[in-house]
Amino acid sequence: MRKLICALLVLPVLTVITVKAQQPDYDRKVDSLLSVMTLEEKIGQMNQYNGFWDVTGPVPTEKSTKEKYDNIISGKVGSVLNVLGTKEVRKLQELVVTKSRLGIPLVFGFDVIHGYRTLTPIPLGEAASWDLDAIEKSARIAALEASAAGQNWTFAPMVDVSRDARWGRVMEGAGEDPYLGSLIAKARVRGFQGEDLSSSGTIMACAKHYAGYGFAESGKDYNTVDVGTSTIFNVILPPFRAAEEAGVKTFMNSFNELNGVPATGNNFLLRTILKGEWDFDGFVVSDWGSISEMKAHGFVKDNREAAEKAVKAGCDMDMESYAYITYLKDLVESGQVDVKLIDDAVKRILHAKFELGLFDDPYKYCNAEREKKIIGQESNRKAALDMSRKSMVLLKNDELLLPLNKEGVKIALIGPLADDKDSPLGNWGGAVVRNSAISVLEGMERYTGNQLRFSKGIQLVSNEPAFAAGISINATDTSMMSEAVSLAREADIVVMVLGEHGMQSGEGRSRAFLGLPGLQQQLMEAVYAVNPNIVLVLMNGRPLAIRWAAENIPSILEAWQPGSMGGQAIAEILYGDYNPSGKLPMSFPRSVGQVPLYYNHKSTGRPGPKKDVYWSHYIDQSNDPLFPFGFGLSYTDFKYTNLQVKATSTPEVFVSVVIQNTGEMSGEEVVQLYIRDEVASVTRPVKELKGFKKVMLKAGESRKISFILTKNELGFYNNEGEFIFEPGDFEIWVGPSSADGLHTSLFVDRLDD
Ligand code: GLC
Repeated sequence: MRKLICALLVLPVLTVITVKAQQPDYDRKVDSLLSVMTLEEKIGQMNQYNGFWDVTGPVPTEKSTKEKYDNIISGKVGSVLNVLGTKEVRKLQELVVTKSRLGIPLVFGFDVIHGYRTLTPIPLGEAASWDLDAIEKSARIAALEASAAGQNWTFAPMVDVSRDARWGRVMEGAGEDPYLGSLIAKARVRGFQGEDLSSSGTIMACAKHYAGYGFAESGKDYNTVDVGTSTIFNVILPPFRAAEEAGVKTFMNSFNELNGVPATGNNFLLRTILKGEWDFDGFVVSDWGSISEMKAHGFVKDNREAAEKAVKAGCDMDMESYAYITYLKDLVESGQVDVKLIDDAVKRILHAKFELGLFDDPYKYCNAEREKKIIGQESNRKAALDMSRKSMVLLKNDELLLPLNKEGVKIALIGPLADDKDSPLGNWGGAVVRNSAISVLEGMERYTGNQLRFSKGIQLVSNEPAFAAGISINATDTSMMSEAVSLAREADIVVMVLGEHGMQSGEGRSRAFLGLPGLQQQLMEAVYAVNPNIVLVLMNGRPLAIRWAAENIPSILEAWQPGSMGGQAIAEILYGDYNPSGKLPMSFPRSVGQVPLYYNHKSTGRPGPKKDVYWSHYIDQSNDPLFPFGFGLSYTDFKYTNLQVKATSTPEVFVSVVIQNTGEMSGEEVVQLYIRDEVASVTRPVKELKGFKKVMLKAGESRKISFILTKNELGFYNNEGEFIFEPGDFEIWVGPSSADGLHTSLFVDRLDD
């Protein structure tokens, strides 16, 4: 009967629409459905629960889960998260569709951050590929697997710009630059959502965490964010705007306060900018419990006031605060909240469910046969391998130890992460099978057979880390070190795999130090003392202050947490079957004291350097990064010549350069274009990335690379939030990183919109 009501309500609208217009007009369907919903049913759509029992198990009897269950079957829940697999999803969907009065289907969300079952590198690693097509494809594979497992919605891409490697969540983003971050945001949204959300291979994306989360003071997660208007408009917001322009269906507000107002209750962010200026037509979900956390922020006195402020600010769905389901009805009936706000939120949520096709078929994402076929299929693993290769950054290769000869070389593989099959999966592993990654040991054994001598050297951790638990680092047990040193002594070359355990970065995992954790530095120096021919492979979730290694170790490959196929990709690069092409999306510091550290900093009034001390610098360390943004080497060499710039009559600025592969091997180079607006009414950074092209060149091949600069690239937001262009002198660089390249300048007097 219930289902019939729903069908009958929608049917007339559907008939009318089918006759009048080919494209479904969801607005009319939504309005028609909304008109028959009770206030409680409307509020139910704004309520999201975490998966709370084994859905296929017996009905829960414990009070809190019984209450959640009862709300589900009475249509007071609009979405659930962390319910995985077609069997569980179907079971839960059936409960809602058959037992609730209107049978409005649930929307199922999950953190598909860099893969569902087949994991690609962590997003910071993917960003290091600077390959937008590969990044889009990676998101598409993730969507394919997630939707096959019953998911309709991922809480990704995380588009928070961050300049602070102490913050554990830098692994989840695209690094320090808003231009690169904006292009990656668009690529990920396209990958997840495709062209048609009702297709069974696509899922809703979610631009998060809106906004400013990456600027948490001292890099401490959830900490206060207090930044200036120019940083908000020119650095923090652009990637969110880009995601919105790409059609992202949802936003997630962040945990942090922004300049004194928590993002969850922030009218400026949610109403003025997102739903106002940007005219966003999707819906906003809170972060986990962030509505109720406004009490801890000191912004509201209780959860009732939290519900009021959040819904008025424009937060449409409550993830796990129980604020909306508990207080909104009373707030509306007492006149404190206008029911129009509820209707607006519910329309946005219902519209998304129609677009997903859930009203046409609530079980469309519950095909067990499809799930079995698609999840973990070989083509997904191949795509993950390709992404993994492209993500890695060659930081040093002074004595050309790399690539390794495939024969006639005695290699010792040493390090606590060398045989680790879990850390390559990182902290946000979705529905991955833990300990399922190809390890470096396994990857290298494909080349060396059983000739490879291996020793962990030390245990990195002294407890079995878990997703929500802390981690304890081994700082005392050196019992395996002598075995590693003996192996190193007998080898021609030592490959060391060091870095961070997969559970040392991610949410809630900020670090106050950025060196190699535990006894790894001691191990590396002990090995170096007997054999300096070391290739260091870094496996980590953030930039590390590896100054000793940078000064002493001949070859360094940054592999990030490279995903399910990581060990194979690393081995292919070490043995030269793939020429590394990655570039850093985030600066590497010399020490944690430099952080926040970023290339696109302001000049200050005393940029220096000066003979006296009166300029902006440290007396005990250089200002320069250890490895700069945009940096990455290749096994071949590239030469840049013939930089040309001219302001055209269009008017635009035309830039071209010739790049040549002067080495013996084909290779890819990311040609990067930076500008500086020398004088402006709001000071501009000393450098800003405004273009890049990744090109493959054969040995000896030359190519002319061109860029067009328009107002979009040369303009900026002033402190009134207006995007403007001011005529003046601009410097232009084109080169291999933010710290190198051909340089010129020109005067630009006007650019059209
Ligand atoms: C977490 C994270 C957010 C995630 C959500 C659901 O606390 O902050 O990124 O999507 O909760 O798991």
